[in-house]
Amino acid sequence: MNVQFSLDASTQPLLAILVNEDNINDVLSEPCFSKDLVQWVTEADFTGKDGTNIVLPSAALQNSGNVKFVLIIGGTDERTAAGTAGYTAKEKGIAGLSLYNFTNVEVSVAQTILGNYRWEKYQNKTKGNLESITLVMEDNATAATRGTTIANARNFARDLVNMPADDLYPESLADFALGLGSDSVEVEVWGVEKLKSENMIGTLAVGRGSSREPRFIHMHYTPTNKTENTNKVVLVGKGITFDAGGLSLKPSAGMQTMRCDMGGSAVVMGVFHALQALQPDIEVHGLIGAAENMCAADSFKLGDILTYRNGKTVEIHNTDAEGRLVLADCLCVGSELGADYMIDFATLTGACIVAIGEHYNAIFSNESDLIDSLENSADAVGERVWQLPLPNLYKKKLKGTWSDLKNIGGRSAGSITAALFLSEFVSDTKWAHVDIAGPAFLDSKFEHFQPGGTGTMVESVLHMLSK
Ligand code: BES
Ligand code: MN
Ligand code: ZN
Repeated sequence: MNVQFSLDASTQPLLAILVNEDNINDVLSEPCFSKDLVQWVTEADFTGKDGTNIVLPSAALQNSGNVKFVLIIGGTDERTAAGTAGYTAKEKGIAGLSLYNFTNVEVSVAQTILGNYRWEKYQNKTKGNLESITLVMEDNATAATRGTTIANARNFARDLVNMPADDLYPESLADFALGLGSDSVEVEVWGVEKLKSENMIGTLAVGRGSSREPRFIHMHYTPTNKTENTNKVVLVGKGITFDAGGLSLKPSAGMQTMRCDMGGSAVVMGVFHALQALQPDIEVHGLIGAAENMCAADSFKLGDILTYRNGKTVEIHNTDAEGRLVLADCLCVGSELGADYMIDFATLTGACIVAIGEHYNAIFSNESDLIDSLENSADAVGERVWQLPLPNLYKKKLKGTWSDLKNIGGRSAGSITAALFLSEFVSDTKWAHVDIAGPAFLDSKFEHFQPGGTGTMVESVLHMLSK
């Protein structure tokens, strides 16, 4: 995306103006607009209320220049307003957009690009793409570049989630990760032999029933001026490229969108997409367990017992509770890295959607600072997280019959028992678990996000790492 600055509001075919109920008359009375504009919007009953907008012809301007449409957006939130501008430009197939009366450059640029996102690689119909955004204000190229970087990172995560599972499988996911290598990012991929020698037992078991072999992906970003005091963080992602449920097969309806089950890995890879450009002063490891959970002759079975890298044994009671089995391997490796903190991201449980709905990510942690930090970062970038408890009280639900643990905890508190299961594989590290089962994938348009992969949490994590 080409982003530029100009004090002239009439350089692009679409002009988006942000107003609210308090400032609408002042803004629309500015000299570049038609003297009748305030009267027109008043007659159309447009008052600048949150979530409303109105499209007017170019006569809304004194000198229309290149302008074809004027979009007046009501609201006090620049984030969603910019998203609406980007979304409208997409619907109209418009090549250039100006933003007027927006103040936060990074946010406006990022959300315009996110609203403009389309996933049409498998569709023949095409509309023109948005090529340039003009901010009607003084120059701030640094903030514009940051906004573009962040949006591209999140859109990369969306692309990965949207890709059909026949095209995105563990090996091809790993290839995308290898593509993120740069001066400051190293990427290593473990194949089946290495998974065996490293005792990555959960990843091997879950991946066994598929003709697509599992992989473990390790990305590592090192800041240029790393010292002994540089903080180190581990990000872990669930990378189930398709979740058929295994022998505990899902019904079709529940399986339909299970290509999104690598949404956690998309968060991690989205973040790595931006690190080389943003150069935060923190060391970051990204660990992804990638496997396809299929129902086949060689699938792992109910009653199987897995002995993990940290010595714990797990009895399989449901092969559809596969994410935690793969994440357990990654959390063992992550715990060995001696990080200041570790966060995993996973489309882990349907129960999470039952508990807090499709627009909240559940957060769990053994450390209150990490909860605060996740909440503050999510708030700052307009994402939604909600803390759920991690009580020892429920650990007994996971007690195995012939092993230390079993991989499901019964009907109640499904998201919590899943998180408690994960906690068994975290040793001596501050850790948080983010269940993104709801927000990772949209069945229908929400705010300025089109249906499909959302790249949820990418912005929150980038915000957290930049501090
Ligand atoms: N990938 C699913 C969870 C999921 C469901 C994510 C819907 C996004 C939308 C996970 O692997 C799963 O199947 N979980 C089971 C756990 C159960 C067997 C304990 C579930 O939620 O039903
Ligand atoms: Mn499953
Ligand atoms: Zn799953």
